[in-house]
Amino acid sequence: MKFTLSRLFPCIFIGLFLAIGCSLFLVQPISFASAGPAVYNARDRIHPIFARNGLVVSQEALASEVGLSILKQGGNAVDAAVAVGFALAVTLPQAGNLGGGGFMVVYDTMRRTSEALDFRETAPAAANRDHYLNQQGAVDEQRIRYSHQAAGVPGTVAGLALAHQRHGRLPWRHLLEPAIRLADQGFPVSTELAQSLREARPRMEYWPASLQVFFKADGAAYQPGDTLVQKDLATSLRRIAIQGSKAFYEGEIARKLVADMQAHKGLITRDDLKNYRAVVREPVRGRYRGYEIVSMPPPSSGGVHLIQILNILEAWPLAELGSQSAATIHRLAEAMKRAYADRSEYLGDPDFVNVPIAGLTAKAYARELAAQIDLEQTQPATAIKPGQPQRYESEQTTHYSVVDRQGNAAAVTYTLNFGYGSGIVAAGTGILLNNEMDDFAAKPGVPNAYGLIGGDANAVGPGKRPLSSMTPTLVFKDGQPVLVTGSPGGSRIITTVLQILLNVIDHQMNIAEATVAPRVHHQWLPDELRIEEGLSPDTIRVLEEMGHTVVIKDAMGSTQSIVRGPGGWYGFSDTRRPGGLAAGY
Ligand code: GLY
Repeated sequence: MKFTLSRLFPCIFIGLFLAIGCSLFLVQPISFASAGPAVYNARDRIHPIFARNGLVVSQEALASEVGLSILKQGGNAVDAAVAVGFALAVTLPQAGNLGGGGFMVVYDTMRRTSEALDFRETAPAAANRDHYLNQQGAVDEQRIRYSHQAAGVPGTVAGLALAHQRHGRLPWRHLLEPAIRLADQGFPVSTELAQSLREARPRMEYWPASLQVFFKADGAAYQPGDTLVQKDLATSLRRIAIQGSKAFYEGEIARKLVADMQAHKGLITRDDLKNYRAVVREPVRGRYRGYEIVSMPPPSSGGVHLIQILNILEAWPLAELGSQSAATIHRLAEAMKRAYADRSEYLGDPDFVNVPIAGLTAKAYARELAAQIDLEQTQPATAIKPGQPQRYESEQTTHYSVVDRQGNAAAVTYTLNFGYGSGIVAAGTGILLNNEMDDFAAKPGVPNAYGLIGGDANAVGPGKRPLSSMTPTLVFKDGQPVLVTGSPGGSRIITTVLQILLNVIDHQMNIAEATVAPRVHHQWLPDELRIEEGLSPDTIRVLEEMGHTVVIKDAMGSTQSIVRGPGGWYGFSDTRRPGGLAAGY
């Protein structure tokens, strides 16, 4: 295997010294008691966490520790993933959820197979194509983002139950116990949670149930170090632990969700909940420079466009061109634009529209697109239209990655769409409602909250799943998983995951370096090359001379990744958002 990690030789004392130093500098929480030794390579500036047996990397430290304890008790990667999913619903309410949906890509080492679990939300039966247009025919942003009608039928509980039913080893109830404890007894509010709740207040203020859960009885905000107790959520979790997902879709939780919907002109009915199904899908697969890429198929656009962009980039020697050079970034931007143009035209729920997955991920199509790219000059978005593949037949998402000692792997990305979804807690449940309906193209050609354009393929329709960009991904070498990754970041998820793969495969970075390297993004429209702080002014100038409109904006994504290396696993939790943890043993 060609990872940089293979160049790493253990040098325990210097390694520990550097890892501690780096962790303080980057606010990367490291628990040496649970993380095992770091490894040192003189050329690397920062280092991942090493674990011999199993590793959990998530955006919230308590949840990572929950996953680790499940692994240590003999649970497998999916057991840990289920427990982390429920724990994050308590400790990371911005994105962890019961009231949202997501995707899991699983590798089962015994069966030597990968599968994709789709627990994306579905549109309620009453949501039709023009439902979110106002009398002037414009998209009603308040309705599609901040009302009860913003919510799709949640899929998370069904998805975690399906994952457990197919792969789990430990009893279901046992996996919910840590989350119940955290909700019932509370956990210390971190600085970032306190700040994020303060920022969410204007959206929550309309909803007494939300204020009751996320603010003190006198209305004051929680301060760092206060204990956040969520009794209603603990009760909901207990019901799910005892009755399984039926509690959510047909039992007392369903009754309360529907009552809240009826009280606020929401669309979700008892039948919508009862009819919800998580689905097992065949992952989308591709090859890139000798590695096999296994990722999420539609209704996510993530895997398809990840592979499409990789296929285009295979035309050029990126390793030689360098990781942050204008030459490489130009090629990335031009490839990204073409993929996002295709996304606007072809991608939607595969149960409703015929998505040309094979055509979009074909090497021949990528060669055609690569040949159209001018290596000296950018082509404006207006000059790029969705291509002709062979027609065969919120920003606040979260990702976590888990591996176990048998080599099973789970990559999970799930979301409420915006941070705290619509900001609405369904009364009596402690459950935040998603606002995933905004991921539909409510009006073809009109951008959603992420500036993404969509067409008929992603129009609203009863029972339909809105198109996603979530890209939980596994990378294999010689049949073994060597990289597990994914990220939040709305429309930027695909390009964020792409750059983790390029940094590891082409640029031979260890997973810590691959994570902190500055990121770039182009999504066709708006026609701008978005970059993070950290690119040199010289590089920016060259890109501008090539015709790019370069804009420096907020950091993108929060990847939670694991790679296989000498002696075990190496993990790194992105430092762009504080509070994450790679915890292993
Ligand atoms: N809600 C963001 C996504 O699914 O892409």
